[in-house]
Amino acid sequence: MIRLAPIVTIDGPSGSGKGTIAKMLADRLGWHFLDSGALYRVVGLLAEQQGITPDSPGMLGDLARTMPLRFDSEGRVLLANADISDAIRTEQAGNAASRVAAVPQVREALITWQRSYVRPPGLVADGRDMGSVIFPDAEVKIFLTASTEERAMRRYNQLKEKGLNVNLARLTAEIQERDERDRNRSVAPLVAPAAALEVESTNLSIDQVYLRVLERVREALPNLHWD
Ligand code: DC
Repeated sequence: MIRLAPIVTIDGPSGSGKGTIAKMLADRLGWHFLDSGALYRVVGLLAEQQGITPDSPGMLGDLARTMPLRFDSEGRVLLANADISDAIRTEQAGNAASRVAAVPQVREALITWQRSYVRPPGLVADGRDMGSVIFPDAEVKIFLTASTEERAMRRYNQLKEKGLNVNLARLTAEIQERDERDRNRSVAPLVAPAAALEVESTNLSIDQVYLRVLERVREALPNLHWD
């Protein structure tokens, strides 16, 4: 298949820093950015509001296919024009997302949506299965990891900064539970894709991780124009 634009995929568990790195890279390159987790978070949130559980996979698939969702030019998440950008960022929405993400009908419904993001001059895609399932022929694949304790601590600090009241032990347990579900589900589990650059970031700063990723992108795409 001929592709319209080059793709960099960045996958990893929650709190690995993939969202931050993916955004930095997309800004630096002037490329489009796909936050695939946001799609699952919206489905998770809507499913909770409407009382639809994974026991009704067909209904969840329909929900994912028909939700009136769009992203505006600033990356705000709009559902029938209501701004739900903040509502989908809670831990509760993350956990709900992880539950609906194990449902094959939901994943299937979101495939076309995710692939439609491939547009010139390029795409940086952030998620769990970007390099393994959605864009298996991506030019660059990155897999970011960090220890559970470090990821929980990062998330704890983020939430604290937002002024939220958080409990580190509970957060750690929730992250562990979410990881387990994301790694062990039967469809598109979280795995390091073949040929991915794996970066273990427990003892690295964001800038150190970013430099390694940039180096890999430069090697793989030597004809890229850098300002
Ligand atoms: O990256 P995130 O924390 O926003 O993702 C929320 C949940 O969505 C995550 O726990 C699993 C699911 N997800 C997925 O299954 N596949 C993706 N490509 C992205 C997210």
